[in-house]
Amino acid sequence: MEQKLNSLLDQAKKHLERIAGDGALEEAKKQFDRIAGDGTLEEAKKQFDRIAGDGTLEEAKKQFDRIAGDGTLDQVKKQLEDFRIQYLGRKGEFSAIMQQLGTIPVEERPRFGQLANRVKAEIEKCFEAKKAALVDSAGGQGPGFVDLSLPGRVPERGRLHPVTQIMAEVCGIFEALGFSVAEGPDVEHDYYNFEALNIPAHHPARDMHDTFYVSESILLRTHTSPMQARIMENQQPPLRVIAPGKVYRCDSDITHTPMFHQVEGFLVDTKVSFADLKGILTVFTQKMFDKDLPLRFRPSFFPFTEPSAEVDIACVMCGGTGCRVCKQTGWLEILGAGMIDPEVFRMVGYDPELYSGFAFGLGIERIAMLKYGINDIRLYYENDLRFLSQF
Ligand code: FA5
Repeated sequence: MEQKLNSLLDQAKKHLERIAGDGALEEAKKQFDRIAGDGTLEEAKKQFDRIAGDGTLEEAKKQFDRIAGDGTLDQVKKQLEDFRIQYLGRKGEFSAIMQQLGTIPVEERPRFGQLANRVKAEIEKCFEAKKAALVDSAGGQGPGFVDLSLPGRVPERGRLHPVTQIMAEVCGIFEALGFSVAEGPDVEHDYYNFEALNIPAHHPARDMHDTFYVSESILLRTHTSPMQARIMENQQPPLRVIAPGKVYRCDSDITHTPMFHQVEGFLVDTKVSFADLKGILTVFTQKMFDKDLPLRFRPSFFPFTEPSAEVDIACVMCGGTGCRVCKQTGWLEILGAGMIDPEVFRMVGYDPELYSGFAFGLGIERIAMLKYGINDIRLYYENDLRFLSQF
């Protein structure tokens, strides 16, 4: 039986050599190459014309058949299929040998089983190799085939995320106004996020900042305002600082995401007034939206500023006449701001009689939505390239 298996392998290999073994396919390919051999399509065309020159398509067909001789692809394909059936088919020679496995002693069977598997794998390997070589020599897409006529692959070009672009633009405007940039931790101490900003435990203002707690006293910061306390603790006025970064809240709808970006800004010196705040924010909005848009300060409340305001700009879509984006009010809220509360100064050791200052905090996604006329904030975070590649 061992001998039978080995001779089956030999026989299969020799058989494979015979398939298109006269090099007919290579020869056919060479003839086709010669037709366009000098590289001019014009010449190739003339030769084709000559082939079908007597006007009979039948004759032309015969000539083509002769070019590929007995190695026409169809014939070769059939020879390969015949081979597969003869050796590897369900009723093929290999199966026939395997059916005799029952006639050999039980203790010998594992060894024959292994040998049989090896022989079968070897025949299959040779068969696949031959098939690939034939496809290749016929100019098909076998190994090593390069189709030079295919269009090239253009690599996708990356770009900055629209929120990153707006963040850079906002920071650039404030830097040009003399603000320096400071960054702080996303995972923040309860003290800086709340206490130092005049929001003691159990203060109702904490409800607006429902957030993600890491432990009882450590949380993901709900705003960038903790940077006011962190900087003022370590530096003396005059100060003119912006603090950009990510912030987190349990919030999710078409204008709120659980993670978003803010830029905090504050300026501390002697004799800083609300007029300075208005001036800086007016310059910022003009530069950001490239328009002379009116600003509106609405009285509001933040525990760390007094007085406090929510700042609106005239709607960038309708200019203030009222539309869907501004819900017919003509105004869009862009940030919260105010004069820094004396209590915050006391906590960082500044003399509130000597120093005054303003602070503001703006949402970057909000600015990006207004600037680009986007009405669903979640689009920024779905990572759909059809959306992102527009910016
Ligand atoms: C604050 O966070 C204050 N710290 C701002 C501040 C700083 C006031 C300094 C005074 C002095 P407020 O909660 O309103 O404020 O958030 C500020 C801006 O963040 C909002 O105007 C809005 O544009 C944006 N914002 C708030 N929550 C979300 C959210 N879940 N998703 C996206 N943007 C948000």
